[in-house]
Amino acid sequence: MAFNDKIPREKAIDNSLALLSEGYMFIPNRCVKFQSTIFQTRLLGGQKVICISGEDAGRIFYDNEKFKRKGAAPKRVQESLFGKNGVQTLDGVEHQHRKQLFMSLMTPERLKVLIKLIEEQWELAVRKWKRAKKIVLFDEAREIMCRVACLWAGIPLNEKEVELRTSDLSDMIDAFGAVGPRHWMGRQARNRSEQWIRGIIGNVRAGKMDASEDTALYAMAWHRDLNGNLLRIQIATVELLNIVRPIVAIARYITFGAIALHNYPETREKLQDNSNYSQLFVQEVRRFYPFGPFLGARVRKEFIWEDCHFTKGTMVLLDVYGTNHSPKLWDNPDEFRPERFNDWKGSPFDFIPQGGGDYQKGHRCAGEWITIEAMKTSLEFLTQKMEYDVPKQDMSFSMVRMPTIPKSGFVMSRIRSK
Ligand code: HEM
Repeated sequence: MAFNDKIPREKAIDNSLALLSEGYMFIPNRCVKFQSTIFQTRLLGGQKVICISGEDAGRIFYDNEKFKRKGAAPKRVQESLFGKNGVQTLDGVEHQHRKQLFMSLMTPERLKVLIKLIEEQWELAVRKWKRAKKIVLFDEAREIMCRVACLWAGIPLNEKEVELRTSDLSDMIDAFGAVGPRHWMGRQARNRSEQWIRGIIGNVRAGKMDASEDTALYAMAWHRDLNGNLLRIQIATVELLNIVRPIVAIARYITFGAIALHNYPETREKLQDNSNYSQLFVQEVRRFYPFGPFLGARVRKEFIWEDCHFTKGTMVLLDVYGTNHSPKLWDNPDEFRPERFNDWKGSPFDFIPQGGGDYQKGHRCAGEWITIEAMKTSLEFLTQKMEYDVPKQDMSFSMVRMPTIPKSGFVMSRIRSK
């Protein structure tokens, strides 16, 4: 008997429609149905795909001997979310060298600069909101984070551009699980954004624009590859967008944080009188609310795991949402309970909202620390520096649309400073 005969296998020729109709629950639903953390299905035009879920699955998924990223990201994701030939698609020493470029920007000093910028932008925003009847937090947070991202990365952004750049950076994120118009909007947004950033990097390289040495703009414009060559301008552009776009993505978590404060009012009180609680709260927001559904990689060299024969080139999906909600790893996973993180052992493979494993050697999100700090600073504003009313609205969110967001975007009214 071949090894793969032992793992549950879906019979359909292609389950892409089921993926579209089940969204975040596509892998978790099947893990429950098959009572297994591994199964085989067919996606992406009938390709054989092995789905794996849980902490042990994370451990093998991030083993560089077993998996590679080359050829893993679907074209449509590269055309909208990632861009082509960015760090996400590299392997081995080339990946490590490029990843070092990203990690070199994440120093404690640069984190402090980022926090200060976030505080300043929140203060300005609250001043503006006090004059408005009501605001939609998700829209406002995207704009705040777009301003912060550009200031932090050293990218000039004039006032007239703010709306366009905010919506383009958001549309690229919004396109990742989309087919049809939402995908096309993401592609157009990427084309426009790449043109904008390419121009700026071109100006820096031509000496027509100054870039401060500690910024991402400088780092991307002047980075040299392993052969000592400057990056092709197109790749430097993709990488600089790999900094600013995900900073805008944090607006989603800020919005979910506001929803959690509203739905679980006891957490608001705890946030006010316990400074350590904000770390627990932010972790729980990232665990509880859906963002990335799963991650993909291809088998580099064949191996056997859980009685399954992983053949070279096979596409494997790691279940991100399901791992963060696995009852084997989390007590009552569908309960929002920040205190659970007091007992968390810090495994790099059981809590994976932004990927798992090692930052330097693997593909784990380069911006995880930034995300956590940006969320904490924003929550501090929401709980300690301002007051607001929450009018009646639909805060529910779809588990099918990827990425998802509460329907109302979180409406706030009668905003005042504390
Ligand atoms: C809402 C917040 C964010 C979420 C949910 C998120 C999620 C992720 C995920 C799931 C990955 C893929 C991990 C993998 O492939 O194994 C990733 C990679 C990455 N993220 Fe984030 N991220 C966020 C914020 C950020 C920020 C703020 C930055 C930078 C300023 C950033 C930069 C990156 C980069 C450069 C990679 C590619 C790393 C690599 O391939 O080695 N992300 N992120």
